[in-house]
Amino acid sequence: MLLLKRIFMTVLLLSALPLFAQYNTLHIPGTLSGPTFNLRMKDTVKQFLPGQQTITGGINGNFWGPTLLFNQGDTVFMNVTNNLNDSTTLHWHGMHLPAVMDGGPHQIIPPGTVWQPYWKVTNNAGLYWYHPHLHEMTMEQIISGLGGLIIVNDPIESALSLPRTYGVDDIPLAITDRTFTTANQFNVEPFGDTVLANGTLNARQDVPAQVVRLRMLNGAIERSYNLGFSDGRSFSVIANDGGLLNAPVSVTRYLLSPGERIEILVNCTGQSGTNINLRAFNSTLPQTIAGGENFPNGPFSNALGRRDFNILNLNIVAQNGNPITAIPTALTTNIFPTEASAVVTRSLRITDSLGVTNPVILGPTAFVIDHKLFDINYINYTVNKDDVEIWEIVSNSNLAHPFHIHDVEFKILTRNAVAPAAEEAGWKDVVLVKANETVRFIAKFDDYADATHPFMYHCHISLHEDEGMMGQFVVVDPNGTQRLPEPGLKVDAYPNPTTEKIYLQFADADISVYYVTISTVSGRAVLMLPQPILNDGIDVTALAAGTYVLTVMDKKTKRMGSVKFVKSR
Ligand code: C2O
Ligand code: CU
Ligand code: CU
Repeated sequence: MLLLKRIFMTVLLLSALPLFAQYNTLHIPGTLSGPTFNLRMKDTVKQFLPGQQTITGGINGNFWGPTLLFNQGDTVFMNVTNNLNDSTTLHWHGMHLPAVMDGGPHQIIPPGTVWQPYWKVTNNAGLYWYHPHLHEMTMEQIISGLGGLIIVNDPIESALSLPRTYGVDDIPLAITDRTFTTANQFNVEPFGDTVLANGTLNARQDVPAQVVRLRMLNGAIERSYNLGFSDGRSFSVIANDGGLLNAPVSVTRYLLSPGERIEILVNCTGQSGTNINLRAFNSTLPQTIAGGENFPNGPFSNALGRRDFNILNLNIVAQNGNPITAIPTALTTNIFPTEASAVVTRSLRITDSLGVTNPVILGPTAFVIDHKLFDINYINYTVNKDDVEIWEIVSNSNLAHPFHIHDVEFKILTRNAVAPAAEEAGWKDVVLVKANETVRFIAKFDDYADATHPFMYHCHISLHEDEGMMGQFVVVDPNGTQRLPEPGLKVDAYPNPTTEKIYLQFADADISVYYVTISTVSGRAVLMLPQPILNDGIDVTALAAGTYVLTVMDKKTKRMGSVKFVKSR
């Protein structure tokens, strides 16, 4: 059945995308600047193939959202509206922020609800991204097209002579792959048959004959891309996940696994009138790296397995008026934590399902960390705020897994006791831990302590993550006292009834609010406010007229209280 479908698919694809196809112009996502970002998640459609439209998830559009532009030092305010039919979350991948703003599996946004996290941007200039993170739904929601890029700017990067005209010589590129059903709908499967570059099939981009920057995200569910160019040219890696390398590193290939980002410079000076393909050279990958295997059938079979394929055609046109024509020799001076400053070394073990005690729940394809499936009520690790830690990921798995940690950017210390290659020696938040490899990395867990709300670490193959290859840690203040939520907080809301704003008043002094949730009387959350700034009240203008319950938690004592109020017109 599946095989028949495949054959039919291939025929369909060949007719839809002839070999010497007309290219489609690469979609360059629009940008949004702060301080306030309005993101609306909803189900929509997009014309990918001739005939029926494809149902997609969209953020302010159809398939893949706008690129968010942040400046280091700014505080950014998010209004995330869930207009999907399902619950979701929105995670700011790579951002250093309070756990309660992180958008992991705990910050569930029900349909119809607005979630309003905010934080001060402290990350280095670089490429980050946002995507849903609802446990057991992450793969499906990412496949639908929910997600987008984040570009952070900082003074160090801005002072360099680098291409930075968005969409001209600075090209954002989210790479993924999908399979379409015969009815032109996405298959919810870990591997696709066709590449999508920013949601464009068979994409082409005009680039000027000068130094061009590509900011690339592997946004795939499972596949790694062994990136290189059709003419074999070298390119310069200038940034890893969390910012600039000390200096550009010239390579001809870069293996980018799901969740990872790199920024590269390609020198196209003097090449006007020619074109080259950015390709995935996956035929040379070992079978232990997803994308390097070739399943003849079953849910993992796909037309791109163990093959080289094009991602983006770069059509080199005339140089523009303000070209960068040379690759800089130096970029920044990264200061990484030293091994001597580490106070804890944690050893985490990745195993195949055979090593697990509950194969019944697990099924045959699951992988686990520390012999334990993800349990949303279990805190796997407790980290003291401001500590430097070494995490040692020991793989006994026969497959490579992109290991990702929230909250921090880390520095790879070693792969199998050897220092990492220069092109991955920068700040990282995802590292591909290859089959039976041991990877050690170092990170400092500063700024945000929160004993209540955890951060995640997991395999960034969304299928594995959904199947439970995930754990969570809290960062705590070692001098603080940890408490569990309890009732007893007295809160009043005024004016009541209100038309625009609601102000809170507490019986006790010294309340600092950890969370406010406004729900309907039947218990459906409509507005979620992590650590809100309350001086100016809470804006409830958007709420329909009716009676609401406002629940609030105090940060220090974890006492909770609630109050009813009426929203009138
Ligand atoms: Cu990009 Cu926990 O995820
Ligand atoms: Cu993340
Ligand atoms: Cu995995």
